[in-house]
Amino acid sequence: MDDSIRDRVEDLRRQINYHDYRYYVLDDPVITDYEYDQLMRELKELEEKYPELVTDDSPTQRVGGRPRTGFSTVEHPVRMFSLENSYSVEELRSFDGRVRRALGVSGPVQYVAEPKIDGLAVSLRYEQGRFVQGATRGDGLVGEDITANLKTIRSIPLRLASGSDANLTVRGEVYVPLEEFQKLNAEREERGEKPFANPRNAAAGSLRQLDPRVTASRRLSFFAYTLVDAENLGIELHSEALEFLKDAGFPVNQHTRSCQGIDEAVEYCTHLQSIRNELPYDIDGAVIKVDSLTSQSQLSYTAKSPRWAIAFKFAPEQVKTRLERIDVQVGRTGVLTPLAILEPVRLAGSVVSRASLHNEDVIRQKDIRIGDIVVVRKAGDVIPEVVRPVVEERDGTETEFSMPDKCPACNEPVFRSVGEVAVRCQNAKCPAQIRERLIHFASRDAMNIEGLGPAIVGQLLESNLVESPADLYELTISDVLGLDRMREKSAHNLIRAIENSKTVPFSRVVYALGIRHVGSRVAEILTEHFADLDSLMVADQGALAKIDDIGPKIAESVWSFFQVESNRDTVLRLRDAGVNMRSEPEEKREEREGVANKSFVFTGALERMTRDEAAALVRSLGGRTTSSVSSSTDYVVVGKDPGSKYQKAVQLGVKILNEQEFLDLIGI
Ligand code: IVH
Repeated sequence: MDDSIRDRVEDLRRQINYHDYRYYVLDDPVITDYEYDQLMRELKELEEKYPELVTDDSPTQRVGGRPRTGFSTVEHPVRMFSLENSYSVEELRSFDGRVRRALGVSGPVQYVAEPKIDGLAVSLRYEQGRFVQGATRGDGLVGEDITANLKTIRSIPLRLASGSDANLTVRGEVYVPLEEFQKLNAEREERGEKPFANPRNAAAGSLRQLDPRVTASRRLSFFAYTLVDAENLGIELHSEALEFLKDAGFPVNQHTRSCQGIDEAVEYCTHLQSIRNELPYDIDGAVIKVDSLTSQSQLSYTAKSPRWAIAFKFAPEQVKTRLERIDVQVGRTGVLTPLAILEPVRLAGSVVSRASLHNEDVIRQKDIRIGDIVVVRKAGDVIPEVVRPVVEERDGTETEFSMPDKCPACNEPVFRSVGEVAVRCQNAKCPAQIRERLIHFASRDAMNIEGLGPAIVGQLLESNLVESPADLYELTISDVLGLDRMREKSAHNLIRAIENSKTVPFSRVVYALGIRHVGSRVAEILTEHFADLDSLMVADQGALAKIDDIGPKIAESVWSFFQVESNRDTVLRLRDAGVNMRSEPEEKREEREGVANKSFVFTGALERMTRDEAAALVRSLGGRTTSSVSSSTDYVVVGKDPGSKYQKAVQLGVKILNEQEFLDLIGI
């Protein structure tokens, strides 16, 4: 091949990287999107023609990649700590007092203050100037390998700027800009999916996608805030490390300030709080860090957090808005829940128009009336909450709320049992309950039927294709293809997902039935005692209540569930359809134990399955997979033509298995 082609490819990569940096880091592009696309297209074409020129760090590799079956784990060579929180100026001052006493200084300490970005901490490893591995924080010691997903984030450089070939570990926060967050949630609601509670959840959900193409579609961003072992590069101050990171091409938050003493840091916090709402991303506070790295190492760490830094958390934001009306929703077990419909208002980074009011008693206690101006806040990361009415702003037109005496979904009378707050619709055929039961049945912790979310459930009900969960197993591809906007591929996937759900453990099936008071844990206990459907179905209340952790309330609920003919009919139909109705035999569980909590590394090609599939098997049995061998690795599974991991395993004396030994261990 002509050298000029090689040069052109390199040149295109350099240009694209530079324009990514201008666009995503500096927010100051110098070419149009069209010109950028032309560069990208030329590079893609050349790489297609000369695949030997494709490198892992080419900008074309940011999107795409094959979907992965799960994540391997990565040990953090330097632990990822979290921060101690403070909520008041006094706490900040006492932090400063501790720092000065420990350092033995009487004058002001030099601090760096930064916004506390509400995202997800990640650690990025660069070797010889190239981005080679990225991981989540995990428990601080071991995180998940999310390299492919991080590569889709345009503000993370794939190569360090100005040709640096340094080895670095950089840490920072991946976040979803507010505009993207709102778009993302609007799209989710449209598809009938649950919106993300906040940008942090959106970032976490997006980074933990198995398919990097999904991550790419989420338009995540990044701020760097730590250069690990900066001292080794001759750096003495955290502020210098941030400058270094900027020069290396990383986005560093522009609201970062140096503060001489705690007074300036306090001022910074007040200022930051006042501009909080103008920022295009969500922050939940400020972080104050001792600038001198020598002082940092002198101060060192507690078990959980550095003594040289503290987070100043902003108080939860509250806003006033009008309570337009109170709707009533019917849940899976028939409970009626009042829902506040609010005049849309911006709160802590998102637009809020609904809030749960829990039950009638809460409304009465807080004296909330329809038409009131109410104070709304976001409590932590949960759904917004109506704090109180602003009584002074009433004009007399407000009306009191009372629970309807008929179910809003089916019009049957509702009941409130003595001593219970909940009002309930007891009509088993109530459409709202049928819908919620199906959604619960398909949900992740239950039958885990991917693709069967609220929107599809709604459509299946409307077209009278299903009513009972058992009907799902009779659906055909052509049934599903008749639904709105359903394409061939998704139809196949849905039917396959339904088929696959037949093999979930029996305890999940019991949980999926949606029996009142039977959560995942109770379902596990029940299926440990009643190994199959027949024995569970005929268990009487006495036998049930004898089990540890199963009280009379649960016993009564399980028993009465199976007294209802339509319920019995559903479970028998599920069984006939092939849904697993039997607990795992003891031996099988023991096999699982041989793998559970053990760590595996795979090297070389396996014959009976791909490495990804083998890794997925290990994880499904509760084991862990990591990408590199260390002394804490339990097994290295060696296939054909193993790599250097094999030698490493021999060196470290880690147990080595061939493919057959591995299959024996997992019981296949
Ligand atoms: S410093 C040992 N700086 O807050 C120092 N953290 O509870 C650890 N965070 O896990 C982190 N913005 O996810 C640092 N400017 C910032 C930050 C920041 C957000 C997050 C990070 C960390 C958590 C600490």
